[in-house]
Amino acid sequence: MTKLIEKLLSTSDLTDNELRILIETDDKEAAELLRIRADETRQLHYGKKVFLRGLIEVSSYCRNDCLYCGIRRSNREAERYRLTRDQIMLCAENGYELGFRTFVMQGGEDSSFTDDFMCDVISELRKRYPDCAITLSLGERSYESYKRMKEAGADRYLLRHEAADEELYRSLHPSEMSLAHRKQCLYDLRSLGYQVGAGFMVGAPGQTTDHLIADLRFLQDLKPQMIGIGPFVPHHCTPFAEEKGGTLELTLRLLGILRLMFPKVLLPATTALGTIAPNGRELGLQTGCNVVMPNLSPVNVRKKYELYDNKICTGEEAAECRTCLQRRIEAAGYEVAIERGDCIN
Ligand code: 5AD
Ligand code: FES
Repeated sequence: MTKLIEKLLSTSDLTDNELRILIETDDKEAAELLRIRADETRQLHYGKKVFLRGLIEVSSYCRNDCLYCGIRRSNREAERYRLTRDQIMLCAENGYELGFRTFVMQGGEDSSFTDDFMCDVISELRKRYPDCAITLSLGERSYESYKRMKEAGADRYLLRHEAADEELYRSLHPSEMSLAHRKQCLYDLRSLGYQVGAGFMVGAPGQTTDHLIADLRFLQDLKPQMIGIGPFVPHHCTPFAEEKGGTLELTLRLLGILRLMFPKVLLPATTALGTIAPNGRELGLQTGCNVVMPNLSPVNVRKKYELYDNKICTGEEAAECRTCLQRRIEAAGYEVAIERGDCIN
């Protein structure tokens, strides 16, 4: 196991069989060595810096029906909201004062968020905060739409590929969605000059080691600037309510592997990781992660953006979350960086 980790550290690649061994091992010493090597690699490129992204959850309306997601259109119990232009601006204002230099507008696939609306919001943010990065996470849209939003001033786009294996992708999504289209969106975004984030859930129902290897291979092909992974967490109003969630150990193993395979990538310690273990995000930071994405959404809508059960930080004001996170980041041995935090690649 030690040999495999040292090989991954020096060559950033392993054969499928070697990856399989590393993904499946429950050896404690291997986990600790992987953690140490991932942390060294992250510190070599990014020091102890942790970049903050202010997450604005702009809409819980979604025309999609992904089987794992709490805001899927078939969930009649989900409470729906969408923020107005003014509400989004207020979140950003609040966030800027709290030291955020990246705003992430994330939402369900809401047809009310037209290109005109989004471009207006993006160009206003661009004008007011020239020193900030604007990130979008609004799902699948047309090439034209991605193009217009880029021209309006957006810098980055997060769109997890979710599963690079055809069959697994189909089992997690409704029949009208396709992996080919998902990938097309990601390649379109890249060709338009966005900094791109892809990623997947760990421990999704039916996911095997082979599927995870396919995810890693797809990421090697796409070469995204950011990779978002977190454990699958069941939501009680979805077809996957009774499924098992992803584990802390496997998620950390994959984070460590990702840091060694993609030494300079931006890697968030996700809210889902913090949801399955009280110190999940701290452990993520110690295993190669260098980004956290605290919530800037108005407190009265937070519980409504419920992708999975027991999501953390839904009762706190943005300022409380910010203070709490700073404390946690410093206690874990790292420091908050007040900057855009672009990928150094
Ligand atoms: N558990 C964990 N992550 C989830 N997501 C959606 N539903 C869940 C869930 N039940 C993730 C998806 C999506 C991102 C916004 O949230 O990977 O891309
Ligand atoms: Fe949100 Fe602690 S990070 S309350």
